[in-house]
Amino acid sequence: MLAYRHSFHAGNHADVLKHLVLMAVLAYFRDKDKPYWVIDTHAGAGLYALDGKHAQTNAEHLDGIARLWRRDDLPPLVQDYVTRVAELALAAGSPEGKALTRYPGSPALAASMLQAGDKLKLYELHPSDFTLLRGHFGGRREVSMHQGDGFAGLKASLPPPPRRGVVLIDPSYELKDDYRHVFDAVKDSLLRFSQGTYLIWYPVLRRPEWQRLKERLERLEVKWLNVVMRVTQPDDEGFGMQGSGMFVINPPWVLEGQLREVMPWLTERLAQYPGAEFQLRSFEPKLSRG
Ligand SMILES: C[S@@+](CC[C@H](N)C(=O)[O-])C[C@H]1O[C@@H](n2cnc3c(N)ncnc32)[C@H](O)[C@@H]1O
Repeated sequence: MLAYRHSFHAGNHADVLKHLVLMAVLAYFRDKDKPYWVIDTHAGAGLYALDGKHAQTNAEHLDGIARLWRRDDLPPLVQDYVTRVAELALAAGSPEGKALTRYPGSPALAASMLQAGDKLKLYELHPSDFTLLRGHFGGRREVSMHQGDGFAGLKASLPPPPRRGVVLIDPSYELKDDYRHVFDAVKDSLLRFSQGTYLIWYPVLRRPEWQRLKERLERLEVKWLNVVMRVTQPDDEGFGMQGSGMFVINPPWVLEGQLREVMPWLTERLAQYPGAEFQLRSFEPKLSRG
């Protein structure tokens, strides 16, 4: 049985980076007047109580979303994300004008960006988180929920009928095999739906597996963008997440410029030590002239 529960980590620095990039990509898709699908292979519970027992255990959101909360100097991209978080949190019972007590996960954020004809497909394996997810989105026709393996679900979902789609792959990497599964899923998905936009989240840890995944992804002959933010050091025993990355395949053309503008500011705001840093790399295959 999987032990990971995202409720212990909701709204931390990694959620901020992941959800900021997700919202920037979805805003681009929404602004083009054609339907699209969003597939979230590892959905989690969908919405989290920051004043609940799990989130309060390490209060990770205090070094994440709480550092952006109620500031009046947010860059526009961050402002859009924080405003959306605020709207969803308020609707879920977070008191107005006070500290944030609810945080929307990727399903809630993505669902809020859907327009007529768009669809959101969610996969979640953990029975308790799936029950919570169903409680949040049950009854919305444009949202379908599946309790099962997101990697298998992705295979069965591609290509999406509108031939426009965003895929978020966001495992907990609780199992070492997840690194390999992610890469295999990406390779397979590109064969099925080469024009899709794929967002792959990964942690920055002392253990080396994430670096191998990053290197393998960066060797793919597709258009990609990779943003990594390191905000803290490992703890005394060498454990703990130092930061995280988002690898985006077929990113909207505006995304790199948006992130170049925002990442220095965001890294400074979320820094927990003087060595905090970000890296932004991108690649575009040369067109073959046959
Ligand atoms: C990092 S959390 C997801 C957070 C969510 N995407 C968000 O941003 O709000 C990862 C989730 O994947 C679930 N999970 C683990 N293995 C899975 C699998 N093979 N298929 C689907 N879900 C899985 C876990 O139970 C956990 O809820």
